[in-house]
Amino acid sequence: MANTILVGAQWGDEGKGKIIDVLTETSDIVVRSQGGANAGHTVIVGDEKFVLHLIPSGILRPDKVCVIANGVVIDPVSLVGEIEGLKQRKIKVGKNLLISETAHVVMPYHRELDGLRDHKKGKNKIGTTKRGIGPTYGDKAARVGLRMIDLMDPDRFAEKLKGRVRENNAVIKAWGGTPLSYKKVLADYQEAAAKLKPFVTNTVVYLHEAMNAGKRMLFEGAQGTFLDIDHGTYPYVTSSNTVAGGASTGSGVPPHRMDNVLGVMKAYTTRVGEGPMPTHNDAVSDLLHGMGREFGATTGRARRCGWFDSVLTRHAAMVNGFDDLAVTNLDGLDTCETLRVCVAYKVGRKTFEHLPNDKDDLANCVPIYQDFPGWRSSTENVREWKKLPVNARNYLKAITQLTGGRLKIVSVGPKREQTFML
Ligand code: GDP
Ligand code: IMO
Ligand code: MG
Repeated sequence: MANTILVGAQWGDEGKGKIIDVLTETSDIVVRSQGGANAGHTVIVGDEKFVLHLIPSGILRPDKVCVIANGVVIDPVSLVGEIEGLKQRKIKVGKNLLISETAHVVMPYHRELDGLRDHKKGKNKIGTTKRGIGPTYGDKAARVGLRMIDLMDPDRFAEKLKGRVRENNAVIKAWGGTPLSYKKVLADYQEAAAKLKPFVTNTVVYLHEAMNAGKRMLFEGAQGTFLDIDHGTYPYVTSSNTVAGGASTGSGVPPHRMDNVLGVMKAYTTRVGEGPMPTHNDAVSDLLHGMGREFGATTGRARRCGWFDSVLTRHAAMVNGFDDLAVTNLDGLDTCETLRVCVAYKVGRKTFEHLPNDKDDLANCVPIYQDFPGWRSSTENVREWKKLPVNARNYLKAITQLTGGRLKIVSVGPKREQTFML
């Protein structure tokens, strides 16, 4: 497929980074179009583990081009750190990375306000990654944000920054935080700006020229459908459009040039941060945490784990228009005797086959489960559909049918080679 949008079908951490890495082999350009350093995409190459935050996972293949497009919010200091970290590990970062000049910049006051605001919420906190994501998108919508193009012009940046630091320091003080030093912020950001300058360009023009030259693009979604600002479990969401539509607005590649939408979902459900999760289950959490799995790639927090929820993934298929599906972490269920799949919710006497919009309804949902027999054998060395235990095949058929979409990719371990296509 020429241009593919890859989207998480749950609450993030579906294994998108791993699948992007596999698919990059047959793509030319990998594009991040939303989110920021709140993302943590794990890719394992050989015995080396990489966690990408802002840079597209395609960077690990030196002959591919990676684009951080206009819809992403960029923390320049953290991006410089990520670039330098990769270079130290002998990963090429040069002409193969392009950064949009219209992407918004995450400032230290955004990070400070992110933490203070969530703390002030007390028991209603969102549990953000504290990377300044919400306040940066807030400033973008309020039309007071600073963009990469501003950062690249030292005088303009210094001038605009003065007003922004003054205004935000007043709020930081009022909320009991530590005000920022304009001079320090300016110095840190000018240093980062000089290092990022060679990468910053008009990525919309680049992507259109590449497209017209027949290049194949892979849009690397960050977060997941239910963290989307419009379609997620608001207010327990992030601040960008994580659904497939966000790939167009976040890159300037029009919807009719997108050929395929691939939904990535775990064979079970996880969530990190606050907010409802109807199929959360302590035994599933204990099982996966006991294997040392399901700890956040960005914050290290333990993810809540539970049974596969097809009400969620069906909704995700609807709003993203999944053509194909990738199921990851099948091996996580290898030891289960019985697997449960949520097929609907009950709230009082009402049954929901779609996600309820009322957050109290969602919080009170009781899952209605269908049970499947487990396969109780290791799948991590399986590389072919026909070699999977019959119960694993039946489980995969059921969850993809309940979701809606063709099963295209199965992942049975974190490594590149622990993957097979159908
Ligand atoms: P992303 O944010 O969607 O890229 O996912 P994360 O990297 O945050 O979390 C996914 C975790 O699952 C990482 O630790 C991956 O290495 C791991 N992973 C991905 N696919 C598989 C799989 O099929 N099996 C196992 N065991 N681990 C996987
Ligand atoms: P990837 O791309 C999982 C969650 C946070 C919090 C909420 C809002 O690795 O799948 P934010 O910092 O964005 O304002 O936090 O969203 N969250 C993620 N959860 N995976 C992610 O990214 C996430 N990015 C944000 O935990 O609940
Ligand atoms: Mg992640």
